[in-house]
Amino acid sequence: MLDKTKMITVDETMIFNGDCLDVLKDMESNSVDLIVTSPPYADQRKNTYGGVKPNEYVNWFLPISKELLRVLKPTGSFVLNIKEKVVNGERHTYVLELIIALRGQGWLWTEEYIWHKKNSFPGKWPNRFRDSWERCLHFNKNKKFAMYQDEVRVPMGDWSNSRLKNLSDVDRTRDESKVGSGFGKKIKNWEGRKLAYPSNVIHMATECSNRSHSAAFPEALPSWFIKLFTKQGDVVLDPFSGSGTSIKVASDLGRVGVGIELLDEHCEISANRLGLTKSKTIDKVVYKDNN
Ligand SMILES: C[S@@+](CC[C@H](N)C(=O)[O-])C[C@H]1O[C@@H](n2cnc3c(N)ncnc32)[C@H](O)[C@@H]1O
Repeated sequence: MLDKTKMITVDETMIFNGDCLDVLKDMESNSVDLIVTSPPYADQRKNTYGGVKPNEYVNWFLPISKELLRVLKPTGSFVLNIKEKVVNGERHTYVLELIIALRGQGWLWTEEYIWHKKNSFPGKWPNRFRDSWERCLHFNKNKKFAMYQDEVRVPMGDWSNSRLKNLSDVDRTRDESKVGSGFGKKIKNWEGRKLAYPSNVIHMATECSNRSHSAAFPEALPSWFIKLFTKQGDVVLDPFSGSGTSIKVASDLGRVGVGIELLDEHCEISANRLGLTKSKTIDKVVYKDNN
């Protein structure tokens, strides 16, 4: 039973210094529009901020995701940036197991976006090539959720000039899918358009202006999802906020950013980036704007 006197209302940008499982338990249900986060990739960075053994990952994550499911609004989205590490020469399956376990918990696995890291470092490995992509798993509570697709449209590109120049008869009518999927396309609809919807592969460099955290997002990554799944004034939560990248971007875009971070030094970095000061809300250390 939730103790209503301890409930946290998320109506302004703030960073909680604590374990996300504890903090989430005190957050109001159905109060968040978007969760965008990158948790520890198992124990890949155990020397900097600890981690969880791959075999224990799902059991560690599920109590947290249960709270995320509770605090997310029915129209909200949860974007989980993660990548499985190599253990004993093969890819570990904890991310795949986590997807299945999250579905069992009630999440819908709507989509998988691939973050193509354009500038991954060259190297030579005996049994694989350099790792140039990460998963951004998209989960929802319901099939109908808020999505502002026009906000992430991209230029049509040069291909459209030649492709749309001489349209065939088929191009001028709706071409129904041959496999009976109900989907179809009408190429003529794209005549005169300058912008198109992007694909589910996001091409972005890993570099970021903030070098004080070993695994910080480039700002463009959370920015893309925040524009796609929220509007001004909406609440964006990052339960593993690290140096506060997603909270900073959310705030810059006129959203309410709420971060949770275990380590004091990472909270200090976030607070400096966002101009927040340390205070206390109920029994928690929180950084917020005290002006
Ligand atoms: C991959 S990093 C996130 C980096 C972040 N996206 C950024 O741009 O800086 C994961 C973060 O989760 C934090 N963390 C680990 N376990 C946590 C927990 N139980 N609750 C809150 N934060 C945790 C770590 O200290 C680390 O800063």
